[in-house]
Amino acid sequence: MTTQTVLRHTTRTTWDNLASLTEPIPSAGKHEVLIKVRSVALNFRDIAVSVGKYPFPVKDDVVPGSDAAGDIVSVGEGVAGFSEGDKVVVAFDLATAYGPMKSWGSGLGGPVDGVLREYVVVPAQAVVKVPRASGLSYAQWASVVCTGTTAWNALYGNLPLKPGQAVLFLGTGGVSITGLVLAKAAGATTIITSSSDEKLRLAKEKYGADYTINYKTTPDWAAEVQKITGGNGVDYILETCGSGTIKQSLEALAFGGMISVIGFLSQAAQEEMPDVAGLVIGKGAVVRGIMIGSKQLLEEAVRFIGARDLAIPVEKTFTFGKDQVVEALGYLASGQHVGKVCIDF
Ligand SMILES: NC(=O)c1ccc[n+]([C@@H]2O[C@H](COP(=O)([O-])OP(=O)(O)OC[C@H]3O[C@@H](n4cnc5c(N)ncnc54)[C@H](OP(=O)(O)O)[C@@H]3O)[C@@H](O)[C@H]2O)c1
Repeated sequence: MTTQTVLRHTTRTTWDNLASLTEPIPSAGKHEVLIKVRSVALNFRDIAVSVGKYPFPVKDDVVPGSDAAGDIVSVGEGVAGFSEGDKVVVAFDLATAYGPMKSWGSGLGGPVDGVLREYVVVPAQAVVKVPRASGLSYAQWASVVCTGTTAWNALYGNLPLKPGQAVLFLGTGGVSITGLVLAKAAGATTIITSSSDEKLRLAKEKYGADYTINYKTTPDWAAEVQKITGGNGVDYILETCGSGTIKQSLEALAFGGMISVIGFLSQAAQEEMPDVAGLVIGKGAVVRGIMIGSKQLLEEAVRFIGARDLAIPVEKTFTFGKDQVVEALGYLASGQHVGKVCIDF
């Protein structure tokens, strides 16, 4: 076989503007590997990219999707440590092996063609082996790439989480539920919010949340977090929502606690912008912006998850193909999911 099916955005105004194209299967060049993609995990970012709302550079006719798990099919000249048949994931940012990302210029499915295609060639330096014998599916491993690394970065990338510390997650999306699973396995006390009691039941029964809060029926959820923690507040917050929630997040934080600013799901109106500086000073808060994370952080997350066979939360899988990917993006945008939505090949 010499050709493959590739999905590309034609315009970026709605997520159904995808073309299904037949393109050559590329060869692995020097220091590169060719991967047969087995599963792709979707992210909120893929919707933002598809509707032209992603706040960082995006290639016009981009192949969407950043998170792939698959098998190495061939290795190029000069590649050491990988061989045909290795089960692998590819880091979100192809250029950052260690330390913070220096730009958003080398992320898959944005400035660089992504992984919603049958085969992909990537630099070997961006590839991480996952244990072949693990009980995790390709979809679960794909889910570790952006979401898992982001959550790992928030918990371990700076001030490492210690057992017994309290962590707050906002909503039951991919980053939150994956973070919940990681924090729980690390012995933390976990609190999660959601707009849905049914999702909170799942977060508790399936993913081990210690405490749950419905942010619709308990609009002053920060006060509830303070009550749960005996007035101490939480040590860590994965702030996935942005200016719409950051005021209450800072109110829910312990003195000296760390807030990882990750997402932009909820924006405050201009006239309601909170006095973040005042709140940060008032809590002695450590505020840290998260840019996914390096390959090193992905490796750490893979090791932690693989050693425990952690149940990375994949809620629904679709099959690769234009119509199914459009349906999957629509499902993700509807917010019905708890955890990850993936495309299996
Ligand atoms: N900075 C980075 O490196 C990085 C990395 C990954 C993701 N992100 C960003 O992080 C955010 C989350 O990503 P994701 O993939 O987890 O998204 P997702 O799976 O689409 O999460 C959607 C969920 O967020 C919750 N939500 C929405 N508005 C909320 C609010 N006002 N309060 C509390 N929860 C709210 C809802 O949960 P309920 O239905 O339970 O209410 C919703 O189902 C996105 O903005 C994404 O772009 C950033």
